[in-house]
Amino acid sequence: MTQTAVALSTDARTAIADALNQSVAETAVTTMMAQNFHWNVTGMAFGPLHDLFQKIYEDHFIAQDDLAERIKALDAHAEGTLAGMLTRSKVQEHDGHASDQEMIKTMKEAQETLSATLAGAGALAAEHGDTLTEDLCIARGQTHEKFAWFLRAHLA
Ligand SMILES: [Fe+2]
Repeated sequence: MTQTAVALSTDARTAIADALNQSVAETAVTTMMAQNFHWNVTGMAFGPLHDLFQKIYEDHFIAQDDLAERIKALDAHAEGTLAGMLTRSKVQEHDGHASDQEMIKTMKEAQETLSATLAGAGALAAEHGDTLTEDLCIARGQTHEKFAWFLRAHLA
């Protein structure tokens, strides 16, 4: 068994890896959603929204890798299929046919789902003393709350 900073039982390792796999899945589905909206957004705010959605998918693409590689550091399997990710994700795919306002609202909700998932994953890791996973989850949760605020500010 792989040695991590804190000795984890098999059950704890599995539970943490599952929470991280859900986090990867939701991050990946939201990455695709952000790219979809980056391509298909229309309206007077096209420029800034095109750029904001790009910032989101660039951030999320790197985050998927960081989260998946934490799963590997814990010696568990990282979900690497789109079908598996769609099954695990609470964020649903979007077809990209929507007004700019609907896209902003949908992306805001995805960011809120992600921040809740990451907060939960971090709390679970902390429960088992896995502070290194907790730290990654906290950082990701904060980033999702920041994006949720950026999006919410458009709807005021
Ligand atoms: Fe582009």
